[in-house]
Amino acid sequence: MPSSVKRQIRPYWLLAFGCVMVLALLGITYTHSRMNAEVVALSDINQKRIDRLDQLWVLLVDAQASALSFLLMRNDIYLEPYRSAAARLEPLMASMNFDIPPGSDDHADLQDLKRLVDAKFQYLGDMLSQGKAPVAVSEEHGELGKQLMDEIRVRLAILKARREKAHQDLENMYLARAGKIQYVGYALGAASLLLILSLFVVQQRQVALRARIQELLKTENSRLEAKVQVRTVELSNLATNLTTAQEAERQHIARELHDEMGSALTAAKMDASWLRRSLGAHVDDSIQERMLRLIENIGSTISLTRRLVDDLQPPLLKGLGLVEALRSLGQQFEIDMPVEMHFSEHSVNLSPEQSLALFRVAQESLTNVRKYAKASKVELSLIEQPGMVVLSVRDNGIGFNTENIELHGHGIAGMKHRAQMFNARLVLASCMGQGTRIEVHMPI
Ligand SMILES: Nc1ncnc2c1ncn2[C@@H]1O[C@H](COP(=O)(O)OP(=O)(O)OP(=O)(O)O)[C@@H](O)[C@H]1O
Ligand SMILES: [Mg+2]
Repeated sequence: MPSSVKRQIRPYWLLAFGCVMVLALLGITYTHSRMNAEVVALSDINQKRIDRLDQLWVLLVDAQASALSFLLMRNDIYLEPYRSAAARLEPLMASMNFDIPPGSDDHADLQDLKRLVDAKFQYLGDMLSQGKAPVAVSEEHGELGKQLMDEIRVRLAILKARREKAHQDLENMYLARAGKIQYVGYALGAASLLLILSLFVVQQRQVALRARIQELLKTENSRLEAKVQVRTVELSNLATNLTTAQEAERQHIARELHDEMGSALTAAKMDASWLRRSLGAHVDDSIQERMLRLIENIGSTISLTRRLVDDLQPPLLKGLGLVEALRSLGQQFEIDMPVEMHFSEHSVNLSPEQSLALFRVAQESLTNVRKYAKASKVELSLIEQPGMVVLSVRDNGIGFNTENIELHGHGIAGMKHRAQMFNARLVLASCMGQGTRIEVHMPI
């Protein structure tokens, strides 16, 4: 079994062990309290039996004293205790018969006692009926009544001693059993202590393990975060290089188109015009017409080349600055829909790279408005704020969900990157049906 599984099972074993321990302690407590109740009940019964032996003796002494007092005083009132004792004797003897049933060890002694008590009462009865005091039977034993009392005392003492011994035996037995239970209790207590210690150790280990896991997770997270940061910087550098390379390439193509192709086309147009002029009326109309079409075609190719050059390298940006370049961009856009423009009064203090970045963001934003927004108007603004220049393109079109723009195209990603290149903040706010607002906060 793998050690991790073992580690998981261990607390369950401890829990089961703990439950057994608690049940055992409950069992012991229950047994102990039951034993206590039993012993209390038994010693109560035993004490009552001893009390009854004492009562018998008191009853006999009362009866004897009453009879003797009567004989002495000859007054009936002294006979009352005797009569009461005689009346109480029978239920008392019946109770004692119940205490010491036939077949028990003391039954023979009880029968002897009964016989002696009967004889004593017989003797007292005879004495009262004859109306005279007892006489001594012998010098050694005294009179018969005393002899009977002596024998009764001995029997009572024997029975009482046995009762007390029984009580003592019960107590000893209880103490012996209680002692054993106490040892079991000690053992269970020690086991519980061990269990608590084990649980504590297991709990401590789990806490330590959790802390270790958290530590590892933290380290791993930091490592991954550092890796992601390195990758982000790498990607950002790559994107910066690509953007820079793209702009350089655009400039190169624009230069080639302007310098090489532009001048070649202009030369071709001039030659064609010269040819047309030189040939004049020497050629027929169809050639004249072809020549004219050639000159026109060369002219429109020159215009196309100029437009291409303008697209690749905004001409006003270099010459008149960002505000004018943006104004020209807005005016071109006005062919499709009205554009409300707000620009700074004076020229903004931006580097050529920053100006180009803002111009490209505006260009892409307006292209997106044209492509997707279904707007009825656009606002284009460039205003200066303390420490920054804010470019804003706002439309009142259909808007879009900005959560998953990365899935669609590269335009917005490019805007973000251009802003990032200059530590600028790009704000993209759009809501379905409520238009779109794109802002670049460029620090200066
Ligand atoms: N002004 C806008 N109004 C409505 N939706 C817009 C607007 N601007 C952008 N979007 C939505 O955002 C998406 C992403 O635009 P983004 O410019 O990044 O990509 P694209 O225009 O689809 O492709 P690319 O720019 O690479 O040609 C668009 O496909 C469009 O659904
Ligand atoms: Mg786009």
